[in-house]
Amino acid sequence: MNAQRCNDLRLTGSGGANRVMEAELKRLVMRSPFDVRLDKPTREGEETLLYAFDARVAWVAACHHRTSSRISWDLCSSPAVRLEPLFADLLPELSSDDRLPGGTRLSFSVEVGSSSDFEASPLQLRGVVKNALVEALASRGVTSDVDGDAPDVVFVARRAGTPEARRTVVGIDVGGGARHRRGARVATGLAPLRETLAAQLIMLSRWDARTEPLVDPMAGSATIPIEAAGLAVGAAIRHPPDLPLRHLAAFSGLPNEAPDLFPGTVASIVALDADAACIPAMVGNLRAAGLTGPTYDRSIVIAQQDVRGLTPDDIEHLAPAVRNMRPGVFCFNPPYGVRIGGEHGEAELLALYADMGRALGRFRGWRAACFVANPKFVYAFGHRATMTKPASNANLRGTFLVFQL
Ligand SMILES: C[S@@+](CC[C@H](N)C(=O)[O-])C[C@H]1O[C@@H](n2cnc3c(N)ncnc32)[C@H](O)[C@@H]1O
Repeated sequence: MNAQRCNDLRLTGSGGANRVMEAELKRLVMRSPFDVRLDKPTREGEETLLYAFDARVAWVAACHHRTSSRISWDLCSSPAVRLEPLFADLLPELSSDDRLPGGTRLSFSVEVGSSSDFEASPLQLRGVVKNALVEALASRGVTSDVDGDAPDVVFVARRAGTPEARRTVVGIDVGGGARHRRGARVATGLAPLRETLAAQLIMLSRWDARTEPLVDPMAGSATIPIEAAGLAVGAAIRHPPDLPLRHLAAFSGLPNEAPDLFPGTVASIVALDADAACIPAMVGNLRAAGLTGPTYDRSIVIAQQDVRGLTPDDIEHLAPAVRNMRPGVFCFNPPYGVRIGGEHGEAELLALYADMGRALGRFRGWRAACFVANPKFVYAFGHRATMTKPASNANLRGTFLVFQL
């Protein structure tokens, strides 16, 4: 038999996300309710971390980790790239796997990740993994049915590994699906940033929520300020009852609630945009994310403001707490021109970048971190980047940049 049992926690992010994902998980596990040591992960390419599976670490990641796009528990793998040999490998391996969900009934679905080097279509791959699971579960006394809409457990099948040793890996999605869907955004602007990328951007800016204000001068639908507020207190993005954990014996006895990991942090966050239409969208999104009300009145401020005229006095006026804080951090993603085609001609866009560079230059000692898809940004912005890192937002390739102003 060619199948191999695996036991890894797999964190997958956008291209180049490895270091940030690793740093975030380390920070979270240190503050978690568990006394657990986090070993160094193995890296698969630039966007995947594999940790030796520990249910407590998986619990922390599934509830709190913001920079990963998917989190799964790898159960077994096979070198097979064709359907029949894959089925022959998976069935005995899964049938003898006591980590599979127990009980008498289970609804499940199978999602297929990257499978370009599998010699059948993703649909066929999904079908074979589904058949192997139905039979394996039946052999363990579990009657199962496939439910694409609201399954108890989602299994994942993907081709993975290093280029020299690719395998077909089957695991359980323990992270509650695509993690950039936080479930909070009710209104989006024209070019919203993915939440996972917004979290990466804030991590890359090295924002210290206890001592530095964070300003998004082009906040659109407030993705970055909302992520910042969540990162500041270590708020969960998924709660245990929303995850498949109760179906998996490995997680029994772990908490059913996921309170903030950094409670009591009062961050100072300012969300600005020149477009008046963004203000109600921001308010709606903050409300949906539970970030309005007395606790947040002084912590998150929204205003209509053109970044080109922005001064340190404006920020102090909007958020007086800033006077007692260290110089802060700008986090933003400016208009690219590509997505909002036509609205901004190239010359107009470059003039905006240059004006922004001059305006932010008034903030001595601050840092600026942005995600931009326009290669001419750095030149026009007029500051020297201290960090440059390629990334992509949905299908748009761009760069994370950090500047010391
Ligand atoms: C790419 S979008 C930002 C998206 C945002 N990060 C989100 O996730 O929703 C760029 C934003 O810049 C704003 N903007 C354009 N020119 C501006 C200016 N001069 N001052 C302030 N905001 C501006 C636009 O209204 C738009 O909301």
